[in-house]
Amino acid sequence: MYDMKALHEAKSVDDAVRLLQEYPQAQVIAGGSDVLVQMREGKRAGAELVSIYGLDELRGVTIEEDGTIRIGSLTSFSHITKDPIIQKYINVLGEAVDTVGGPQIRNIGTIGGNTCNGVTSADSASTLFAWDAVIELTGPDGIRRIPIKAFYIKAGKVDLRPGEIQTAILIPREAYEGYEGHYIKYAMRNAMDIATLGCSVNVKLSDDKKTFTDIRIAYGVAGPVPMRAVHAEAAGRGLKVTEENIEKIGDTVLEDVTPRDSWRASKAFREHISKLLCKRALREAVRRAGGMTVEQAPAVSNSRTVETLEKKEQTDVSSGASRNTIMTDSESGKQYKLVRCRINGVERETMVDVRASLTDMLRNDYSLTSVKKGCEVGECGACNVMIDGECYNSCIYLAVWADGKEIRTVEGLMGPNGELSDIQQAFIDEAAVQCGFCTPGVIMSAVEILESGKEYTRDELRKLLSGHLCRCTGYENILNAVEKTMKKRLGKL
Ligand SMILES: Cc1cc2nc3c(=O)[nH]c(=O)nc-3n(C[C@H](O)[C@H](O)[C@H](O)COP(=O)(O)OP(=O)(O)OC[C@H]3O[C@@H](n4cnc5c(N)ncnc54)[C@H](O)[C@@H]3O)c2cc1C
Ligand code: FES
Ligand code: FES
Repeated sequence: MYDMKALHEAKSVDDAVRLLQEYPQAQVIAGGSDVLVQMREGKRAGAELVSIYGLDELRGVTIEEDGTIRIGSLTSFSHITKDPIIQKYINVLGEAVDTVGGPQIRNIGTIGGNTCNGVTSADSASTLFAWDAVIELTGPDGIRRIPIKAFYIKAGKVDLRPGEIQTAILIPREAYEGYEGHYIKYAMRNAMDIATLGCSVNVKLSDDKKTFTDIRIAYGVAGPVPMRAVHAEAAGRGLKVTEENIEKIGDTVLEDVTPRDSWRASKAFREHISKLLCKRALREAVRRAGGMTVEQAPAVSNSRTVETLEKKEQTDVSSGASRNTIMTDSESGKQYKLVRCRINGVERETMVDVRASLTDMLRNDYSLTSVKKGCEVGECGACNVMIDGECYNSCIYLAVWADGKEIRTVEGLMGPNGELSDIQQAFIDEAAVQCGFCTPGVIMSAVEILESGKEYTRDELRKLLSGHLCRCTGYENILNAVEKTMKKRLGKL
């Protein structure tokens, strides 16, 4: 249970604005991967929340008539990465958000939440700075649009006025047409770690590809809020595209960045990698823009699989007007909601306390004990389940959001007489289980991978499974089990 005073579920953007005016002390919750973790850590104990999670009108990417790319604020990272418009015009944003946390975090975390939390390390933010993004806010006085630079006021504080929510992020046509870019996240681990420094570079080259017509260099964690390296950009504009000039531009960023010492890295180290990442990102951006071909930079850059998956249909059941509403017990003041959902193929309904996580509901109401309670802050993947075909850490998912969803756990993988599924059997055959605590969560990620029907390389599988911590550390055997099952299903083994 979360230590929550009350939950109000918005049924539309207007309703969210109304609720925020009615409950001015309440905080917006979108995917909850920041808010619920902070509540778990006691930082927002007793908070009142306005949930906008059900507002499907704020999901998805579209192009407006004038060419502006519109990203709904509730669009999850994984949907941004897979979106064909993003891939075609601003692929570097898809790459940047593909470095966030692990797969389950990328399924729940939204771009709106990533920018509204005001955090300098947010992986989307520096890239959005480099795209000259515009933030759309909707509040009691209507809609206002401001440049992303003006949206960030100071560390942890953005320009959100009372009653306002962020409804979209806009990338104007002139900000992306003719530009190519690259984002590099420097972190201590390849997954589940926030950036020690993030650098996003976009370039526009002259027609003959020999001159920098424009350069945009943006950073996360190089200052209290995401920032642009304006001196370095000015120094680079109009220069010939040469290795010497790339070095020069990269060295100039020290006039812009103001990193600090922290337990992750010293100021001096951050300054050092500010230059280095800028040069590497610049080289790659130039290469993508068709400029001189240079050797690929070494492995600070994160690899990424570009998947062109069809957009998943949004389920109508989670749309604005949720079928069931929250009820308040007049005696205790506690809030409950009737949650109807399909669990492992069976229609279920139960009254849940709004403070319950989905883990609580699945374990306590349905005795689905394969759903483990591990870290309870979204880091270990032990509570991972499938919701409408995507994996989510159920410990940071409100039980009330499950209304109308299709949920699958390991219990649902077995045959009618308890026969194990192929992937479960593979875990036994490959000795991919030691204490077994992490296993059900890993298997559900494996199911998402296998049901995509795609063939992945071992490195890609490693990344797709990176949202799981196995305390017994049997990672190679886990990879073997998933890889072999994938190949068997594809008829290649
Ligand atoms: C294990 C783990 C790993 C993570 N790793 C990374 C990482 O590598 N990189 C990274 O950048 N982040 C990381 N995060 C942080 C988090 O996932 C992102 O910041 C995410 O984008 C937050 O989105 P959300 O929808 O879950 O936000 P929420 O938690 O719902 O909200 C975040 C904040 O934004 C506000 N808010 C959200 N949406 C709106 C809106 N539309 N209008 C107004 N206010 C709004 C909320 O009030 C809150 O203050 C990680 C989190 C976890 C738990
Ligand atoms: S991620 Fe949910 S228990 Fe660790
Ligand atoms: S098998 Fe023990 S935690 Fe993974």
